[in-house]
Amino acid sequence: MKAVGKFEEIQEHLRGQRYHWLITGVAGFIGSNLLEALLKLNQRVTGLDNFATGHRHNLEQVQALVGAQAWANFDFIEGDIRQRADCERACAGVDFVLHEAALGSVTRSIEDPLATHETNVTGFLNMLVAARDAKIKRFVYAASSSTYGDHPGLPKVEDQIGNPLSPYAVTKYADELYADVFARCYGAESIGLRYFNVFGPRQDPNGAYAAVIPQWVAALIKNQPLFINGDGETSRDFCFIDNVVQANLLAALANAPQAVNQVYNVALNERTSLNQLYRMMHQLLLDRFPHLQEHQAQYKDFRAGDVRHSQADIGKAQQLLGFNPTHRIGEGLKEAMDWYVRNLVRSN
Ligand SMILES: NC(=O)c1ccc[n+]([C@@H]2O[C@H](COP(=O)([O-])OP(=O)(O)OC[C@H]3O[C@@H](n4cnc5c(N)ncnc54)[C@H](O)[C@@H]3O)[C@@H](O)[C@H]2O)c1
Repeated sequence: MKAVGKFEEIQEHLRGQRYHWLITGVAGFIGSNLLEALLKLNQRVTGLDNFATGHRHNLEQVQALVGAQAWANFDFIEGDIRQRADCERACAGVDFVLHEAALGSVTRSIEDPLATHETNVTGFLNMLVAARDAKIKRFVYAASSSTYGDHPGLPKVEDQIGNPLSPYAVTKYADELYADVFARCYGAESIGLRYFNVFGPRQDPNGAYAAVIPQWVAALIKNQPLFINGDGETSRDFCFIDNVVQANLLAALANAPQAVNQVYNVALNERTSLNQLYRMMHQLLLDRFPHLQEHQAQYKDFRAGDVRHSQADIGKAQQLLGFNPTHRIGEGLKEAMDWYVRNLVRSN
């Protein structure tokens, strides 16, 4: 699929006009992809990260991809959003904030709710205050589909949410409430993007809290056991990273007043079960890794805090932001696999 319409217009606009962006969580998966896209559009970017879950090699990879000239437009601050001073320093002179820094993972939040709260709520509030005081134009932030909690409706519509099912979900919903209140009390503009299971290059395959696609691709390439939680019929609206980058730029530059101070689903409005996902990934890698002829997924218990099905209604983002996803799951998986094969095989 090719980007058409509003996103093309915005990219054209950015090629001719340089803004100063702050990306928090810039060394992480989504943050480093935003950095790559903005530097390729000749934008000026400041990045903030404490490397809690992000990596220097993500930044090095972006540097190699964009080249020395674009890289010179990037300033990196090693800092922590739990520290007010770091947030203030990072926001100085900035036009737009893309706030991605957070501790992800439902499981991590169940094991350590305080750590998740400190970064995802206190850190978020620090950033809101710093952005307000620096009079930035707009604060675009990573919200989450976990906010739908136990609401049974499908596809998920932005104004119908249930009870949160994990501390992580509470933090992401609290962020939405704070952003909304900052618009009411201080006139600070924001847009929240409820991402649904994002995947793509630079998503970390390692560690106990790795997301399903990178975790599985690593297991498949290395011919290691691969576990599916539950019966495999749990489903998700998997969203390729390029669609997320598009949503962020559209959100930052949207100028219709009704588009601002809102939250939006960011996904495809498609549902893929874990069993289907396994088959797609297996198929994509089979030619390159003959050992996969014998590989089979193993099943274990359902995971605490997981919702059973997830699928986004994206009508609101389509109408108000001009969101037009360029990659469906199959196209995104193919690109992601190529990247993982190049990077994981090399690091073996
Ligand atoms: N990946 C997904 O599927 C998904 C889904 C919904 C929401 N989100 C949200 O999107 C955002 C980005 O997620 P990601 O997948 O890129 O995760 P990631 O872990 O790759 O990136 C998060 C980045 O934030 C940094 N960070 C963490 N705590 C920090 C702190 N206290 N100060 C400064 N930096 C800090 C990390 O070092 C890391 O580089 C997060 O807010 C996450 O909750 C992601």
